[in-house]
Amino acid sequence: IGYAGGESDDTVLERLLHGLSNLEYRGYDSAGIAVANAPLAVEKRQGELSELERALTDGGTDSDDWIGSDAVDGFDGPTGIGHTRWSTHGPPSDVNAHPHTSPNGSVAVVHNGIIENYCELREELSAAGYEFRSDTDTEVVPHLIDQERSAGVDRFAAFRAAIDRLEGSYAIAAVFPGCETIYVARHESPLVLGLGEDGNFLASDVPAFIEYTNQVVYLDDGEFAAVSPSSVTVSDESGAVVEKSIETIDWDPEDAGKSGYDHYMRKEITEQPRAIRDCLRGRIEELGGTVSLPELEGLESPSSVQFVACGTSYHAGLFGERLLQRRGIPAQTFVASEYDADELPVDEETLVVGVTQSGETADTMRALRGANRAGATTLALTNVVASSAARECDHVLYIRAGPEISVAATKSFASQQVTLSLLATALADTADPSSSASREHLRELRRLPDHIQSVLDDSNARSVAEAFLESDAYFFIGRGYNAPVALEGALKLKEITYRHAEGFPAGELKHGPLALVTEATPVFAIVSGREKTSATIGNVTEVQARGAPVVAVTDSPETVGSHADYVLEVPETHPAVMPIVANVQLQLVAYWLADALDRPIDKPRNLAKSVTVL
Ligand code: G6P
Repeated sequence: IGYAGGESDDTVLERLLHGLSNLEYRGYDSAGIAVANAPLAVEKRQGELSELERALTDGGTDSDDWIGSDAVDGFDGPTGIGHTRWSTHGPPSDVNAHPHTSPNGSVAVVHNGIIENYCELREELSAAGYEFRSDTDTEVVPHLIDQERSAGVDRFAAFRAAIDRLEGSYAIAAVFPGCETIYVARHESPLVLGLGEDGNFLASDVPAFIEYTNQVVYLDDGEFAAVSPSSVTVSDESGAVVEKSIETIDWDPEDAGKSGYDHYMRKEITEQPRAIRDCLRGRIEELGGTVSLPELEGLESPSSVQFVACGTSYHAGLFGERLLQRRGIPAQTFVASEYDADELPVDEETLVVGVTQSGETADTMRALRGANRAGATTLALTNVVASSAARECDHVLYIRAGPEISVAATKSFASQQVTLSLLATALADTADPSSSASREHLRELRRLPDHIQSVLDDSNARSVAEAFLESDAYFFIGRGYNAPVALEGALKLKEITYRHAEGFPAGELKHGPLALVTEATPVFAIVSGREKTSATIGNVTEVQARGAPVVAVTDSPETVGSHADYVLEVPETHPAVMPIVANVQLQLVAYWLADALDRPIDKPRNLAKSVTVL
């Protein structure tokens, strides 16, 4: 958040802290603010917002002697910025919290996103004499700005020149000592301006300022803005002023955290294209078509891989297992509570991968500890930087999905599948450097955000869900890469609708579950047009012969459509990418069915987001 204060009765500090508390729902690990006093007044703390508030009232930080002296008394400048951090580089700590500053206090910066080329920039700036205090990618930004300022460049031009050097995603805001204007830039991370009667705002999300104004301007990629107490000017990369339309937000402030959606789950479903872009950022080398995961440095190619996970993450593990097996790497997935490293063939050549969104699930942690004791190499695949799993394991790969609030996991599953796709390719490349089979796969992974967006834009999942409001049970079938998604489709539906749902590998249906199939049990069949299509169509005809309505989720409606009563179409793509897109249709079916049944979608009965007991 940023606030350029006008004539308001509240202080800048009050508005910033209030805005940050409105963003609290996003979950975070540290918070900080900078107010444009001269010298700049900066305070930041690991932990909850209350830690920051306590630090402000207790006398402020003493780590930087240029920082404003009398704590809250020193925070009375005209303008300020604040930040809550969800770590992507460097664990949560006071120094890693934002704002980041140049060593002489010439500028303070807050940033959301990921700066891909920060290693190069860090080296260059270190060589120029800049000292880095944090482990973050963000800290290069204030130093770049300071370098320009030292060469006599004015504030906005220095800011633009620094932004010009960045590759990656960012929403960035900067304040300068004694200057009432905040400078901002956006590229692939959300940024919205709020036009108030008593000052102007900027934020990554509207709830930060919704109580003060509902007049907003959304910045587009490549745009800059200068936000002062009395004006807001937006410009493009060349510096030309852009006329933006002002939109009126009509959300109830209560719903603001959900960006106007009725539920976090729906918001998180729609966030998947962005989550996947963040997950892929900098990890596929455009030209060579290879995967770059520096996190795995030092990891020897394993003789076999064991996945341990629970719930939705277990389904991601099953997907990862298939990816590895097809690349010739033996792999197996275990429900974490069933895993016992002492009873399994585990040695130092075994890679045990804990797939866990939260990084805190007790069953998964127990399995990982056992694997470590047994001498395996361990890898955490998690969403939470410095979580227990990240600390327990020898290696860690972050899925970069961003905070997930809804108990039912959605975007984290997609990001797990994408990260596992990269992991499988990286391990296969190590095992067999000549392997080039993954090129098409990687190309389609890069197109995945667009594929998902087209499903989000055109899905008929709502009418399909409403056609089956009164069914006895819901079955999901899929084969190969699609089998884990059949399980996940059923899990999502049962957890938020409280209706009976089961998923099966398509071929298994005839070995028992078929006895349950009637006219009142719709069967959702996930059918890829490029893999074993006729076998799954065979299973579809089996259930149709028993009168069950069939919903085909497919990238090949011409081939499959005639065998189905309803089609949930997905764009044609690689067989290992198709289930990730198909799953979005199934998320929407579960969501709209639960909505029609008026269930408490974000907090299903008896369930918790993170289960930290065995
Ligand atoms: C709980 C949640 C599930 C989640 C599972 C594993 O049961 O309700 O949605 O899939 O835990 O959580 P993790 O954080 O380890 O992925």
